[in-house]
Amino acid sequence: MSTSASFTIDPGGHLRGTINVPGDKSISHRSVIFASIAEGDSAISGFLEAEDTLATAAAFRSMGVAIEGPRDGKLAISGVGLRGLRAPVESLDLGNSGTAMRLLPGVLAGQGFDVRLHGDASLTRRPMARIIAPLTAMGARIEAGDGATPPLLIHGRGEGRGRGLTAIDYAMPVASAQVKSCLLLAGLYADGVTRIHEPAPSRDHTERMMAAFGHGVERAGDMVSIQGGARLKATSVEVPGDISSAAFFLVGASIAPGSDLRIRGVGMNPTRVGVIAILRAMGARIDIENERSAGGEPVADLWVRAANLRGVDIEPSLVPLAIDEFPALLVAAACAEGETVLTGARELRVKESDRIAAMAEGLSVLGVDAEPREDGMRIRGGLLTGGRVQSRGDHRIAMAFAMAGLRAAQPVLVEDCANVATSFPGFAELARGAGLGIRVATGG
Ligand code: S3P
Repeated sequence: MSTSASFTIDPGGHLRGTINVPGDKSISHRSVIFASIAEGDSAISGFLEAEDTLATAAAFRSMGVAIEGPRDGKLAISGVGLRGLRAPVESLDLGNSGTAMRLLPGVLAGQGFDVRLHGDASLTRRPMARIIAPLTAMGARIEAGDGATPPLLIHGRGEGRGRGLTAIDYAMPVASAQVKSCLLLAGLYADGVTRIHEPAPSRDHTERMMAAFGHGVERAGDMVSIQGGARLKATSVEVPGDISSAAFFLVGASIAPGSDLRIRGVGMNPTRVGVIAILRAMGARIDIENERSAGGEPVADLWVRAANLRGVDIEPSLVPLAIDEFPALLVAAACAEGETVLTGARELRVKESDRIAAMAEGLSVLGVDAEPREDGMRIRGGLLTGGRVQSRGDHRIAMAFAMAGLRAAQPVLVEDCANVATSFPGFAELARGAGLGIRVATGG
């Protein structure tokens, strides 16, 4: 982003009315990837038109895929089949997107050409060894920057280049849907059955979407497996609202007295609903209404009202199911009565920012007793003062502190918020419409 942006939140608001949040980011990325390598024309609706997902669409366009849109969340994609991609002329710019940087190599390792992938300063710091090691074991050749970080140079192993990819049996050291998805995609190009063991369940959108595109993934206990060589058939994908975006509103409405908010059409995949379980354990009033299914994913409307929250010990098994929601959840903890302890969340240190450090620092600025730990945090809920908080260019840190402003005694200024556009364009307008006293200042 060339422009800078900051949020100022005036105290005293609450959230009311009915809103829709934008489409799910994980599912939107996957919809473009699968539709591009399927055979035939796919139609996608509810697509998230944000910087991260548009970067994935641009990447496949520059590899020869005809993609129309997005217009009103609709994309039309003419798939080229597993081996129909063409070498891009230039390095692919994936912006801020860790998901694109970790999923695309699974596809690219199986192509008959080389591709370079790069991103912004934050993405250039993120660890890629977690995909490079297993892909290399499958026969891929990948060059990376110092410390196995982007840029990545993927030497395709398809079409007579080397021996192609071979299936592996791999136990993932961390619960990561990005790693699992990368290997499932590479498994499409491998000779044999690729088996992946997860240390804990992580989001399963890839598995669901592969089935929708006509090639089922098998699951047995902690293992998912995929047979190589099958072809994918075009389909239509309906992307639900992103529960990770809804999370800011669930927390905002829970902590701000007088709030009463409905959020329509939110994805309720069981591997994503940890935020609801944790907030309910804290005493939040969240009702799940009108449960239905859309495009192979469960969806519901959520009704949230203000509540007196209490601190909890967060159940470690819920951590992978709420991994992106901790910035928001830690704000809830700061407004709760008593102590909240988060453990088993070391992964937060290697997200778009070090989210443990960023949240502990920002909460301390607001006068909250927040003690960062190697794998989590201890927070004693209390009164929030106000002040100037750094988001470290991390979209979710920025939105979490915007919601904290609802309970602060003085204005909260959140700096470096331009990256909110990577996942939630229109956040400030939507939040203002629901009652958050948010002002946006942009600079050159
Ligand atoms: C994602 C998986 C998660 C999450 C990220 C999106 C995905 O990362 O944090 O925002 O779309 O697969 P990990 O799989 O590395 O935990």
